[in-house]
Amino acid sequence: MARAEIVVDLGAIRDNVAALRARVDRSLMAVVKADGYGHGLVPSARAALDGGADMLGVAVLEEALALRAAGITAPVLAWLAVPGEELTDAVRKDVDISVNAPWAVTELRAAARAAGRPAAVHLKVDSGLSRGGATMEDWPQLVAAVLAGATAGELRPAAVWSHFAYADAPGHPTVAHQRKLFTEAADWAETQGLTGVIRHLANSAATLTSPEAWLDLVRPGVACYGLDPHGGDPAEYGLRPAMTVRAQVALVKRVPAGSGVSYGHEYTTTRPTGLALVPIGYAEGIPRNATNVGPVQVAGQRRRISGRVCMDQFVVDVGDDAVHPGDEVVLWGPGTAGEPTAQDWADAVGTIHYELVTRVGGRLTRRYVG
Ligand SMILES: Cc1ncc(COP(=O)(O)O)c(C=O)c1O
Repeated sequence: MARAEIVVDLGAIRDNVAALRARVDRSLMAVVKADGYGHGLVPSARAALDGGADMLGVAVLEEALALRAAGITAPVLAWLAVPGEELTDAVRKDVDISVNAPWAVTELRAAARAAGRPAAVHLKVDSGLSRGGATMEDWPQLVAAVLAGATAGELRPAAVWSHFAYADAPGHPTVAHQRKLFTEAADWAETQGLTGVIRHLANSAATLTSPEAWLDLVRPGVACYGLDPHGGDPAEYGLRPAMTVRAQVALVKRVPAGSGVSYGHEYTTTRPTGLALVPIGYAEGIPRNATNVGPVQVAGQRRRISGRVCMDQFVVDVGDDAVHPGDEVVLWGPGTAGEPTAQDWADAVGTIHYELVTRVGGRLTRRYVG
């Protein structure tokens, strides 16, 4: 057993994607950005494709190129670039590129000329998130710029798309409003000649709970990894978490009542007790504000971190449990054997499971099963 590791169940990713695809019965883009939400870019992408994903979605170009370098030939969309980024290689390697503004269209056309082939382009409209995408006001200029590129044979319009602000609150009025604005934008673009393109809008939450948003293709990320974006039980949707974070106990010792534990003595023992040392810390992405609250399972028992999370380690008061060096500590996993889940951690430290699974890493090794 490794000192401390992330175990990724690729069978879970495959099965989750298959369950999502069966649920919507239309095309599915599995989002594998941020190193597959911390599960490993290429293995997660392969597992998603095995589960029936039709396309892969990433944020930045390097992620798309890493998929191509690994020999993955499935359609890939990359949606976040800054002026002057090297797009030619991505166009040459058949990566679809999203554009938010006319300057990005100009750059993509130049890349297509350099690559000697048209670039597949997804036009992003801001339907209310106020993040990426052209505002409704700027949308006509973006559509015109892409149509000009298509007429010149440099662009191949592939999709119109947008992203929700509030899909994890099903029934929130912005969901229907964004869907309406998105449809208006896409319909208007069609009247201008932007035809034969698909429409995509649904992230995990909408894939699970807003069928009206499924359109031609859904774009789930976190659900592919078995996490419920609403913070509920993923099993309700036939999903199971793919990530387990675990370690071995590095040291066990008895201490008297009144012993201050870890930096700043933010935890003090109230009785003679056993302390177990766990070799994972904030350098591995464990939030320092898990101090005294992070849930763990030590040798099969649910416990809490005792005292401050340090850079490389933390301590758990294990009472009189028979805990030994080398025993297993699970920080989070699927939750099926009594261990905490990433959602339990999110609740304990005041964040979302997305952040926890994508930030965990550092010196942890990753092991793939399933
Ligand atoms: C543009 C876009 N689409 C889809 C997703 C997938 O979202 P989720 O993980 O909530 O399914 C993300 C992730 O943040 C995103 O930025």
